[in-house]
Amino acid sequence: MAPDRTSVQSGSEQPSHDAIDNGNPAVFKPKYFVLDDINIDLLTVIATLLSVLSFFTSYISSTKTIAVATAIILPLRVFFPRPTDPEGLVLITGGSGGIGAELSYIFANHGNDLVLVGRNEEQLENVKRNVEQKYKQKVYTITADLSLPGSAQKLYDNVTSKGLEVSVLVNNAGLGAAGDTLEQPIDIAERMTTLNCITVVQLSQLFGRDMARRGKGWMLQVSSVGGWMASPHHNIYHATKHFVRAFSESLSLELRAYPGVVNTQIMPGPTQTQWPTRADAEETVMFGMPGGQNDPKQVALAAYEGLRKRKRMVFSSWDDAISSVFMQLAPRSVHLTLAAMANSPTRGLARMPEPEKDQGKRGQKLEGRKD
Ligand SMILES: NC(=O)c1ccc[n+]([C@@H]2O[C@H](COP(=O)([O-])OP(=O)(O)OC[C@H]3O[C@@H](n4cnc5c(N)ncnc54)[C@H](OP(=O)(O)O)[C@@H]3O)[C@@H](O)[C@H]2O)c1
Repeated sequence: MAPDRTSVQSGSEQPSHDAIDNGNPAVFKPKYFVLDDINIDLLTVIATLLSVLSFFTSYISSTKTIAVATAIILPLRVFFPRPTDPEGLVLITGGSGGIGAELSYIFANHGNDLVLVGRNEEQLENVKRNVEQKYKQKVYTITADLSLPGSAQKLYDNVTSKGLEVSVLVNNAGLGAAGDTLEQPIDIAERMTTLNCITVVQLSQLFGRDMARRGKGWMLQVSSVGGWMASPHHNIYHATKHFVRAFSESLSLELRAYPGVVNTQIMPGPTQTQWPTRADAEETVMFGMPGGQNDPKQVALAAYEGLRKRKRMVFSSWDDAISSVFMQLAPRSVHLTLAAMANSPTRGLARMPEPEKDQGKRGQKLEGRKD
């Protein structure tokens, strides 16, 4: 009898390739093309384009094209599994404010209990109180600095030692720091890369293995449109988000070997949270433009919808999607010029202030917000 797919070992133990190879090859063979929601979307776009094209050419009859396209796409749409709400306990890093707090309210509203992680105990308690009063869900809080080496493993051990089983992992906590590369304090750059990259990878591995063993789970990676932009004056942060984007895209594909485990990434554009204050990015063209910032609630809703629809990647708005694709397609010199302008200080050639060592600082104008 073929060993079952729970041969992926738990948590801190290292699963060997054997553990996976010894499984039923029919289950473990990676599936490079799956007719999932994303591919159905792609087919729908192609079929629609062909139908539109058929109106302008005499070679194909438009009636026939539309009929054929409908006959192919409609059954796929109707019979393909509908979106499902993530079930079970949700762990959110950076659940004490901004996008993470908004995600907490959305998950709690859908009946999920929460584990919220952050450094600021008071803020964590605020969100916990809001959730418990309004949604009557159970909330655990864990105070941890995830920019320190080894913090992902410590968090995993802390959670599992309490007997908690995480069904949904949200890798949301992230730091930014505006300014030129050579002027960045070395320790800020190290903490940024640890929090934005290493912790994300390790938490995905640790909790992801448990999900694979159980055959069920959801992971949400909070990336950024910065993951589509090489950005002079904000180089290191954007480079970390390129990392998250690539890591998450490949992870989504690898997870097709475990059909019950989903991985989605959200690409927020500039969003009105504490992030620009902490990153000293408030004075940049990107954040200084009036009306140019997303509402964190909308970002969180887009992320939640993407996760329940099992999307590989979602954007927080059409503007963000279009600007990211444009930056991808633009010649590199145009791309770099625009990105450098977007990340430059708004007031003439003034230099960006050096990023604060204490990235826990909070912006005045956002103090009244519920998070
Ligand atoms: N806002 C934007 O414009 C924007 C755009 C694109 C992507 N993003 C990404 O969205 C994610 C959420 O950011 P946000 O906009 O909601 O910013 P935020 O308001 O500053 O929230 C960041 C959250 O991360 C937590 N955090 C920061 N450093 C931490 C650390 N060392 N250890 C543990 N937790 C830490 C913070 O909690 P404590 O303060 O309690 O530690 C806070 O809950 C980040 O990954 C960010 O890169 C933001």
